Amino acid sequence: MKSSLTENLPSPTQESSQAIGVFDSGVGGLTAVRKLVNMLPNERVAYLGDTARVPYGNKTAATVSAYSQECVSFLIQRKVKLVIVACNTASALALEDVQRISPVPVVGVIAPAAEAALGQTRSGKIGIIGTRATVQSGAYQSAIRNLCVNAGLEREISVVAEACPLFVPFAEEGWHYHPATRLVAEEYLAPLKKAQIDTLILGCTHYPMLTDVLQDVLPNVQLINSGEEAVAIADRILHEQGIHAAQRGMERIVECFVTDKSTAFMSVAERFLGFPLGMAEEIRFGKS
Ligand code: DGL
Repeated sequence: MKSSLTENLPSPTQESSQAIGVFDSGVGGLTAVRKLVNMLPNERVAYLGDTARVPYGNKTAATVSAYSQECVSFLIQRKVKLVIVACNTASALALEDVQRISPVPVVGVIAPAAEAALGQTRSGKIGIIGTRATVQSGAYQSAIRNLCVNAGLEREISVVAEACPLFVPFAEEGWHYHPATRLVAEEYLAPLKKAQIDTLILGCTHYPMLTDVLQDVLPNVQLINSGEEAVAIADRILHEQGIHAAQRGMERIVECFVTDKSTAFMSVAERFLGFPLGMAEEIRFGKS
């Protein structure tokens, strides 16, 4: 089946040797890059983390849209062939605005993860966790609803969504399996447990770092990694447009840019990425 996610895209003017642009509010999108490097080892990545303005998860849609457009414009200037918005908050609040200004395809994380969750669930009970902004936007809820309508699904789908803002600092702190993380997870996930979900969308790119504890609190629940699902859709688009990298070049695999380079950035980034980053270049936007 051809997914609607790969239809109506800008026609290809790019070349296979160009990098894939990946953008996040900070360090979380590196969990998507980790998947990308594993799944598409021939591709190069230009990553931008907006570390000067993180978090996005407690900001208004207008602010998130303005920041996201600035970040994606930077990647477009770097001549990327496709952009992955590896930030659930930016995908929820700003994807259409970013797609409007982009001459290259832009893939968000919401629709791919919603599609994957619908494909996985047996009971029809799907859970979503994310930042406050992502959950309050209702973006996942409407993506799931639209997919059901378009697919003519008769079956009842119920969705329970919970904002889990404390997971972001726990993931960055490296408390992947700390008793405090476990306690907070029990609290946040209680409504999802009660609703007997069988599938959980990790609607924040930080959350894959907490997979073990989440899986422990919700055993037998299928976890959906939104960044990984977005990479799979990006791969499909690159193949359909004939601009996937068929062989590995000599350049650095991941080129990393940040809007603020704190002393902790490299160690947190490398933990999220799972391999040494080497270097990160600090860039400045006009007004920041
Ligand atoms: N990476 C962001 C997301 O996926 C969470 C961090 C933030 O609040 O900016 O939503």
